[in-house]
Amino acid sequence: MSDNPTTSEKDTFAQRMVNILNHGALNLAIAIGYRTGLFDVLDSFDTPQSLDAIAQEANLNSRYIHEWLGIMCTGKIVEISNIPGQESLFFLPKAHADILTRRSGNANLAVYAQEMPLLTTCSMEAVIDSFQTGNGIGYENYPRFQAFMTELANAKHHNVLVQQFLPSVDGGRLVKKLRSGIRVCDLGCGEGVAVLLMAAAFPESTFVGIDIAADVIEIAEKARVKSQLANAEFITCDAAHIVHEPDLRANFDYITAFDAIHDQTAPQKALQGIKHMLASGGLFSMVDIAAESAPADNLDHPMGPFLYTVSLMHCMPVGLVDGGMGLGMMWGRQQAVQMLQRAGFSQVTVCEMDHDPFNLHYLCRA
Ligand SMILES: C[S@@+](CC[C@H](N)C(=O)[O-])C[C@H]1O[C@@H](n2cnc3c(N)ncnc32)[C@H](O)[C@@H]1O
Repeated sequence: MSDNPTTSEKDTFAQRMVNILNHGALNLAIAIGYRTGLFDVLDSFDTPQSLDAIAQEANLNSRYIHEWLGIMCTGKIVEISNIPGQESLFFLPKAHADILTRRSGNANLAVYAQEMPLLTTCSMEAVIDSFQTGNGIGYENYPRFQAFMTELANAKHHNVLVQQFLPSVDGGRLVKKLRSGIRVCDLGCGEGVAVLLMAAAFPESTFVGIDIAADVIEIAEKARVKSQLANAEFITCDAAHIVHEPDLRANFDYITAFDAIHDQTAPQKALQGIKHMLASGGLFSMVDIAAESAPADNLDHPMGPFLYTVSLMHCMPVGLVDGGMGLGMMWGRQQAVQMLQRAGFSQVTVCEMDHDPFNLHYLCRA
């Protein structure tokens, strides 16, 4: 670290800042292209097309598309023909479409481009105010973001939870138990995507989804009725209160929490509640973001700035409400293990997952 940076160091950093400004702008425009379906429309053509043809197929305003294509072409996302005297034609290379469209499946990265613009709309002003006050920011500030999280939950659990995750737990022994019939709880279940997938796959077992938000539990219950699953139920409950519920004691053989502990205002109490609900010999799978607890140990994290920003704009402030702990999404492996042990889990195994390198699986034995 030098006190007198050289001109070349300043030039290099200035160039980097220019790249950051351009990429920030591109992220926003990619989110708009994804939401409006423009990438899907471009992908539907096998040959380069005129602005009018694209606007007609998309059924969207051509002046807006023209400006958007300007961003996409200068950002090298869409290719443009440049033949003097001829109308410009636009083409989305298939290698880009494979990552940017609704047909991309697990490879879809455009869906994540929506995250920063959405969080900016939900909480930028409140977060800036909170730098003065230290206050938390309630879930009511994030209605659109909650719907987006469900979209992500669908992408995350379908074709993965039953097919890859559960068979990996406890060397395949968990799936055998699920087939013969055990009691399972998913804590912080959101709209119930994981509970319903598991209940459909293992009809001999029973499944309970718990979440603090009554509105998401209502949506989960409607989905359960629609899918006619009699072996699932949903309960509205604050995880921090579970430890005081004698009726829930030793009620479950297996408990899951997918991305659902670090947002809570009282995560330590929630973990104690999970321990309280597990029967003797039961298992708890906590799936949470893969990171180290100290920022200095995350310098090579491939998505460090992105994940710390999601935490700053959502996970940490919702966890700070009412004097909550405000762990944040990047609480990391060391703090997670410490808190699990403090909750009474003496055996905690931290597993990396081939199908999901961005999360860790903390497998805990009661
Ligand atoms: C990021 S979402 C994860 C949802 C779901 N598990 C998934 O895989 O997508 C976190 C969930 O935890 C719930 N939650 C937050 N605080 C809670 C608490 N104290 N008790 C129970 N659920 C809570 C939220 O309402 C939200 O549905």
